[in-house]
Amino acid sequence: MVSDRLCLVSGATSGIGLALACALAARGARVVGLGRAPDKAARAFQAVKAAAPESDVRYDILDLSSLKAVADYARSFLDRESRPLDVLVNCAGLYSDRRQLSVDGYEMQFAINHLAAFALTEGLAESLESSSDGRVVAVSSDSHYYGWMRWKKIEAALRGEKPRTPYFGLGAYEESKLANVLFVRALATRHAFTSFAADPGLVNTEMGLKQGASLGSLVWGVRRRFGTIPEVPAKAIADLVSDPALKGRSGGYWKEGREVPPSRRALDDDAARRLWALSQALVDRALAESALSEPFRN
Ligand SMILES: NC(=O)c1ccc[n+]([C@@H]2O[C@H](COP(=O)([O-])OP(=O)(O)OC[C@H]3O[C@@H](n4cnc5c(N)ncnc54)[C@H](OP(=O)(O)O)[C@@H]3O)[C@@H](O)[C@H]2O)c1
Repeated sequence: MVSDRLCLVSGATSGIGLALACALAARGARVVGLGRAPDKAARAFQAVKAAAPESDVRYDILDLSSLKAVADYARSFLDRESRPLDVLVNCAGLYSDRRQLSVDGYEMQFAINHLAAFALTEGLAESLESSSDGRVVAVSSDSHYYGWMRWKKIEAALRGEKPRTPYFGLGAYEESKLANVLFVRALATRHAFTSFAADPGLVNTEMGLKQGASLGSLVWGVRRRFGTIPEVPAKAIADLVSDPALKGRSGGYWKEGREVPPSRRALDDDAARRLWALSQALVDRALAESALSEPFRN
């Protein structure tokens, strides 16, 4: 049951995240949606209200490309909410053919698809643990089956080095989605709440179009037509965070309501621990850099 539970959904302004916010609100949850653009957040709020007129919903603005902003948001969320957070769904994500860097100078797909989810979850972990049935979902993808971790690049980013090798957007996406599964595996050993990686399948959203004109957006424009509507994975994710029988079944990879085996690389506990340590170090570095530059901002 998700009725009256406090649920935070990132990427709630479009696609799967918006459909999920609607589904949770319709089931009686108290929903906080996250969006980076105020106009899109306002439209999404109206969409949730139209789907569930009696619902208790609000949208907060957060651009996940700054880890300082993510850490500040987590603190402000805890200050504002007197009750524990019951559900966090890290749904925000992007695909890009071209290399982009986050505010912190990290490769954007890794930064949004994984690091921001890591920082948000860790920032809210205490509250999730104080819920009687806290649940966290990382929205991954079957793309993770083709991914592998490029440790040297991540370690170079930690040293503040600018990437010099050619960029392969699909490879970066696959790696970020593998990171989602490894992250959930590590979460299961570190926190008392229940954590899942969710594979939504192929879904007809605008994700691949948002990067503007590129080969990837052309391909996505055709490919997405074979996908389901976002309401299909939204229901599956809403079930994951609602079903009382799933309490405590942490660390697995779920598709269409069933736990299925992830890739061999996603089952590597050493890799999960290594990713955790590097993610923490990347977040710490970003926060330290931002504190250094703070006095020079106006
Ligand atoms: N579509 C598929 O077939 C598919 C398959 C497997 C996995 N997935 C995963 O499902 C998740 C949702 O994707 P989707 O298909 O629903 O795509 P989408 O409609 O583009 O939704 C992505 C969401 O992430 C938000 N976002 C992106 N960058 C952000 C940033 N810097 N700060 C804050 N929010 C940001 C977007 O905000 P805006 O609305 O402002 O753009 C949007 O709300 C992603 O993690 C994706 O990897 C999708």
